[in-house]
Amino acid sequence: MRRTTSPEVLLRLHRQAGVPLRAQLEGQLREAIRGGRLRPGVQLPSTRVLAADLGLSRGLVVAAYEQLLAEGYLTAHSGSATRVAGREAEPARATAVGAEPAPPQWRYDFRPGVPDAALFPRRAWLTSLRRVLASPSDAVLGYPDARGPEQARTALAAYLNRVRGTAARADRIVMCTGFTQGLRLVSRALHRRGVAAIGIEDPCHAAHRAAILSTGLEVIPIPVDDRGLRVERLESSGAGAVFVTPAHQYPTGAVLAPERRAAVLDWAARTGALVIEDDYDAEYRYDREPIGTLQGLAPDRVVLAGSVSKTLAPALRVGWLVLPADLAPEVAALKYEEDLGSPALDQLAYADFLDRGELDRHLRRTRLSYRRRRDSLVTALQRHLPGLRVRGVAAGLHLMVELSPGASETEVVAAAGRHSVRVYGVQTHRAREQGPPALLLGYGRLGSAAIAEGVTRLAAVLA
Ligand SMILES: Cc1ncc(COP(=O)(O)O)c(C=O)c1O
Repeated sequence: MRRTTSPEVLLRLHRQAGVPLRAQLEGQLREAIRGGRLRPGVQLPSTRVLAADLGLSRGLVVAAYEQLLAEGYLTAHSGSATRVAGREAEPARATAVGAEPAPPQWRYDFRPGVPDAALFPRRAWLTSLRRVLASPSDAVLGYPDARGPEQARTALAAYLNRVRGTAARADRIVMCTGFTQGLRLVSRALHRRGVAAIGIEDPCHAAHRAAILSTGLEVIPIPVDDRGLRVERLESSGAGAVFVTPAHQYPTGAVLAPERRAAVLDWAARTGALVIEDDYDAEYRYDREPIGTLQGLAPDRVVLAGSVSKTLAPALRVGWLVLPADLAPEVAALKYEEDLGSPALDQLAYADFLDRGELDRHLRRTRLSYRRRRDSLVTALQRHLPGLRVRGVAAGLHLMVELSPGASETEVVAAAGRHSVRVYGVQTHRAREQGPPALLLGYGRLGSAAIAEGVTRLAAVLA
């Protein structure tokens, strides 16, 4: 196979223009360098390749390059390629419309719900990607099934059935670009079916409330207490569906109590409503038994939604929906309409990663690490802020700390920021219910020493 490492450069010569071809070539290269289209340091094609590409004699191209070398536009050292001269230009200043100033850097960022990028299993993931690309079939590079490659859906169904107690089947799965797209797709499907309003937990992740509202559905906030969603409030709500986080309520951390799990499924069966179950961080649990999914109990009434954003990395944007039989084709059609399918190679890599037991291994390792961080955070809070109530410690990558009733979340967040500690208020996630002021503290990305120092500073602020 013939290989060339020559870079491509767009040059157009006009043979009828009456201007000598060599002058045109020099002029275009000069223009491209002055205008920044060819940046300092960029390698030019070899004279042989460029001559062949443009249908010119090699001598003509050599002469043009020599002229530009003499003028200082190009550099060449014997034995190495010809490059555009000059230092690498300064990166463009952030003055363009819409450009954001660089965010402030916090030394102690308690961002909730993000895993530690340093724990990402790079080597094992690379192996999976390599194995996918080594596939003898070129089909993996074609347009995928909009639901995701069958192999990916099959591997995911097997994993979810084994670990999350679902009743998943490959033909009822739609892979999507993260959980958030999945939530929007189901909401759109419900809206098309004539559902006017969906019950949501209050508080509920503000971005997810916004995603639902963007599809035209109304939201009906239903309060949450220590036992999760107040399911009895659904009865008179008129909602045609409900969106819940049963294994680990976001953001309070409550677990939906067994009788409420039964009640929500009963409500759905009686009224024909749909339950959307966000199973976002169920694999991270520390001092309690795993809690199976609602979907496994009522696969025809529940949509299970999940993603790798907590277990692996949000950058992958690999998410999924496990759908009831009657809804699966509709949602698959919407997915096709929206973007023809999510990137398939990452889904196939995830399938390989699951099939080789790598996720099990990764979870066993990271669960220990996150548990240690959780313990450090709980210990630091007990020591430095013993009067405050801490909720949702048994699972996930964050917990919630209730502040004294008169405290202002906004002021505490701002004051902590001045000490390089970033904490997050709960208020933005509340729709209607007024609850005590509270902070979300994520421990996914901080080591034990940073957690201890961050809490010490936070306590000084609160004092
Ligand atoms: C409650 C909750 N559910 C789901 C997700 C995952 O969303 P995505 O897969 O779009 O990253 C998140 C991520 O922040 C979350 O906080």
